[in-house]
Amino acid sequence: MPAKKVEPHLFVVMGGTGDLMHRKLLPALARLREAGYLNNHSGVLGVARTPGMDDAGFRKWACDALAEEGMASEQLRTWCETSFYFEPIGHGDVKDYHGVAKRIEEIEKATNLSGNRALYLALPPAAFPPTITELGKLGLNKSKGWTRLVIEKPFGRDLQSALELNALVHNYFDESQTYRIDHYLGKETVQNLLAFRFGNALFEPLWNRDRIDNVQITVAEDLGIEKRAGYYETAGALRDMVQNHLTQLFTLTAMEAPAAFDADSIRSEKVKVLRSVMPIGPEDVIFGQYAPGTINGKQVPGYRQEPGVAKESHVETFVALKLAIANWRWQGVPFYLRTGKRLPRRVTQIAVTFKLPPVSLFRSFDSCLVHPNVLIITLQPDEGFDLSFEVKSPGSPFQLETHNMHFRYDSVMPLAYQTLLLDVLAGDQTLFVHADEVEASWRLYSPLLYEYCPLAHQYPAGMWGPGIVHTRMGQDGRNWLVPASSKSAESGNASLKELST
Ligand code: BG6
Repeated sequence: MPAKKVEPHLFVVMGGTGDLMHRKLLPALARLREAGYLNNHSGVLGVARTPGMDDAGFRKWACDALAEEGMASEQLRTWCETSFYFEPIGHGDVKDYHGVAKRIEEIEKATNLSGNRALYLALPPAAFPPTITELGKLGLNKSKGWTRLVIEKPFGRDLQSALELNALVHNYFDESQTYRIDHYLGKETVQNLLAFRFGNALFEPLWNRDRIDNVQITVAEDLGIEKRAGYYETAGALRDMVQNHLTQLFTLTAMEAPAAFDADSIRSEKVKVLRSVMPIGPEDVIFGQYAPGTINGKQVPGYRQEPGVAKESHVETFVALKLAIANWRWQGVPFYLRTGKRLPRRVTQIAVTFKLPPVSLFRSFDSCLVHPNVLIITLQPDEGFDLSFEVKSPGSPFQLETHNMHFRYDSVMPLAYQTLLLDVLAGDQTLFVHADEVEASWRLYSPLLYEYCPLAHQYPAGMWGPGIVHTRMGQDGRNWLVPASSKSAESGNASLKELST
């Protein structure tokens, strides 16, 4: 963990007994506690509607939740019992918010806190505007110490709603107080992209239109929508994954070197990339939706058969996009993005395919094919990278074969939320999404939602999306690369046929 300084504070979670707190925030806070970042003065205040819940009930709930995550030490139990508090929010009326404000002050007084507060909105998106408004109206947007507002994704559901939400936030909170979460930015391997690009002199001179043929970014999941039909039916893959997670991977891959490793420099480079992307045409986007199929030998239902999904739903569970960046570095280099649920396996990869050598020296040898060098950065699972290169096959006739150089992390990675919460508490905004960035990315994608409304092609669960995705790529004279697992990363290249099986 980096050596960051965390001052004593109160961590207020709106939605304090929800799924996000249970699965992500609590384990992340517990790890920070174990690493010595949270001392005995700092407290956690859960705010929720849960009927009958009080301090004692919340402390037990937190201990049980941590035990489920395999974190059941005596120290953590003592921490929950001495530093956790609960305040009910009832129906979210003004008097309920007054209750929250009063409770915050009481806890701060009793524990000698100086007024540093993180206000975390672990709430459904519809609850963001009323909550921000009530917190602001009560004056909870400032305190004697620092106050930071943390907002979960999705931030808006299109350009208009994102603009409105940003305006509302800025009514009460400065941008410097606002931490928009995209948990992909907390992933160690996503940050490693920056280290890889700007900590090595080897690749950066090649990272441009002179040397790179195309870039493919894949975020594939084998899971379906699980029990989230209520949310997913109103979201779809473009809002759920592309506008945020894939766009972060895209901008980090394409951006210029920042002037410094700090929030302002990095975020402004990312915004510049988004502003240089050409408008996406209808022919550059394909939507898909999973039909029944087989994954890992198991029969799974289609999206429309999932509980809570409309029988005629056209919501997309797969998106493939081609982005063109009109700047000096990337003019003419397509960036292909794809994401989907119920694909053959879970993998997040960035594949950078370099151009072929300018002269084909070996053309006089029959069947001596030269493959382009491919750099594959695997963000999960099996985090690391592979670089393919051509070598001569031993013996005669003269032939080339492709081999990979591998690097794999073998250490345990910090949880993404652990990294992000530490940064919230330390006041470092580098890994959080700026208002301008949200707006620039919605500006890019909103037309897809409202102007083209692409029809979702069905694909059987367990395939790499609908067939048309591969046909379109073929029309560009390229193939989607197999997102190889570390064990099968030998080839670096793959045929269309392999992809479709
Ligand atoms: C979430 C999406 O933001 O990211 C989910 O809402 C998706 O639909 C998840 O499954 C993927 O995150 P990860 O960290 O498992 O790649």
